[in-house]
Amino acid sequence: MTKPETETQDADSQQLQSLRKALHRADHNYYVQDAPTIPDAEYDRLFRELQALEAQHPDWVTPDSPTQRVGGKPLDAFAAVRHAVPMLSIRTETDTESSGAQAFDARVRKELELTEAAAPVEYVAELKFDGLAINLRYEAGVLVQAATRGDGENGEDVTQNIRTVGQIPLQLVSAQHLAMPVPQVLEVRGEVYMRRDDFEALNERQRERIAQGEKGEKTFVNPRNAAAGAVRQLDPAIAARRPLSFFAYGVGEVAPHSVGRLFATHMELLQALKAWGFPVADATRVVRGAEELIAFHQHIGQTRDQLPYDIDGVVYKVNSLALQQRLGFVSREPRWAVAHKYPAQEQMTTVLAIDVQVGRTGKLTPVAKLSPVFVGGVTVTNATLHNEDEARRKDVRVGDTVIVRRAGDVIPEVVSVVQDQADAQAAHAQRALFTMPATCPVCGSAAVREEGEADHRCSGGLFCNAQRKQAILHFAQRRAVEIEGLGDKLVEQLVDANVIRTLPDLYRLGFTALASLERMADKSAQNIVDALQKSKHTTLQRFLFGLGIRHVGESTAKALARHFGALDAIMDATVEQLLQVNDVGPIVAQSIRTFFEQPHNREVVEQLRACGIHWEEGTGDSDAAKPLAGLTFVLTGTLPTLGRDDAKDRIEAAGGKVSGSVSKKTSYVVAGSEAGSKLAKAQELGLTILDESALLEMLQDHR
Ligand code: IVH
Repeated sequence: MTKPETETQDADSQQLQSLRKALHRADHNYYVQDAPTIPDAEYDRLFRELQALEAQHPDWVTPDSPTQRVGGKPLDAFAAVRHAVPMLSIRTETDTESSGAQAFDARVRKELELTEAAAPVEYVAELKFDGLAINLRYEAGVLVQAATRGDGENGEDVTQNIRTVGQIPLQLVSAQHLAMPVPQVLEVRGEVYMRRDDFEALNERQRERIAQGEKGEKTFVNPRNAAAGAVRQLDPAIAARRPLSFFAYGVGEVAPHSVGRLFATHMELLQALKAWGFPVADATRVVRGAEELIAFHQHIGQTRDQLPYDIDGVVYKVNSLALQQRLGFVSREPRWAVAHKYPAQEQMTTVLAIDVQVGRTGKLTPVAKLSPVFVGGVTVTNATLHNEDEARRKDVRVGDTVIVRRAGDVIPEVVSVVQDQADAQAAHAQRALFTMPATCPVCGSAAVREEGEADHRCSGGLFCNAQRKQAILHFAQRRAVEIEGLGDKLVEQLVDANVIRTLPDLYRLGFTALASLERMADKSAQNIVDALQKSKHTTLQRFLFGLGIRHVGESTAKALARHFGALDAIMDATVEQLLQVNDVGPIVAQSIRTFFEQPHNREVVEQLRACGIHWEEGTGDSDAAKPLAGLTFVLTGTLPTLGRDDAKDRIEAAGGKVSGSVSKKTSYVVAGSEAGSKLAKAQELGLTILDESALLEMLQDHR
């Protein structure tokens, strides 16, 4: 016997509600919380069950059903939407320096008639997302309309496309426990954007489509353009394939009670938005006064590259909603907010050539020569392509239009080739593929790439003029022996004219040889002679660093000098002995060994000494010979007779190390009375614990 019609209907309707609820919750956990709660297969099963139910009851399909995220029919045009509350823009502080933040704080204080003695103003500091503004209208907690900003008064109805964005709730969280129930009418404003990884993947797919000859397809120049294109896509099925994300940062119409009635501050509002199910950026902070605004601007500026999405600045907003109201607007821009930008980090330009440069150690680096472009605050004409694999992966060819990126102090890089249209792709295909030359472009020696290495190297060593020049510049630099006035140009001239071939040749340069160089005045020649003379008195550390041994930077040179005290000891040290030095590992030790095994390197050292280069030598504090060498101690609590510094000095004098924190690497923990958490941690790790007398015994034993 079949059940009566109405009963089945009731059961279906209940099932439909519970499926929707489960899917809404899963969407929220997956897209907004980034913490999926059900497996994909389970999600798909629930989704299909809901689709089947809706197919049986087409009149039950509502726009907020999770099935509607996939997008409906293509449109001819977007309908116009008049915003209930105009969508304003924010004033942009074009001054990208700290003074930009100061100027804003000063304006706010002046407007509020605050005296200098008055407390700092509280602000919310947010990120300025690089996407497009959207207004989401919810009635009774259900998304009913999404509109672009348009001219601020009238936007376009893009609801169909916005429904496809997983991070945008179709239905709001309305749990009883919430401090603030969702208002009857709630317009949420925020930014629709595309994450960088999603952008890369999208462009990859687009490139494949173009390659397969699909008409009308293109790649996107940056994530913002891709996001804007997706939102304004007339075919929602296409929009659904474009991975978009969302951050909420404010509200439009809120009824029946206004925002000002519901919340005291902007931060409270953001917290409520988060509780209702919207993504709010974690970086958002409440700060006080200009100094903290500056600190935020700087901190975000330094860390923005680690964000998974692009920002083009930060936004400061007065936190108190009452003060916001008092401050009001000037010509459609609120006085209580400002956007503080960063210099643009990416620009488009063309590749004029790809050169191969030879580094000091012979590394060959392909470098794109660019049509000059202003990016990240400087004019860029070169961008590294790192190595052959990288150049191939990006497939940069001479003549291509490329995106160049310069972030912070990082060396400029080619991000990608712009192939936004079929004709750009065709032109690119016509151009020659970059290949690494088989020989060094400077000396003609074979360019070799050893197995497992990413780099090609010139095999010419100091026979190669490029390596020679850089070896000399490295030796002459300020942090090495410092030969003042011996710069790029002069070294270039000297090496090219074959006046100097090796480091010792430098010290054989006389006034006459220098003064006879082109464009060299007598006075400058004399200055170089003096500088050479002065550089002869140096330190072991500087000399060692100046030799340019692979992997021996300044701090390793310092450690070696300190440990061994004398150059001969280093030149003759075995790998085992070198490994005794702090921070010297097997690779560094082997590199030092290999360097001094080469007769010509020893010869260079001897000749330099013969030319008069000298430094003070000592016996070094080679800890290896000392009793507590290699042991790490942690001191905790009060020792009966030894003071903390006393104990530390004696351990160090015996070659041991004293560390402030307990770890698996700690050899011994020396505990006195009232030892605290360090002792507990040591016990937990099963370390050996000594008392003072045991320590003294160890020191004694090793006398
Ligand atoms: S607040 C009344 N906050 O920047 C203030 N805008 O002109 C209204 N934007 O296109 C905007 N991040 O889409 C605000 N954290 C943020 C923002 C932000 C990006 C965009 C916004 C608009 C432009 C401001």
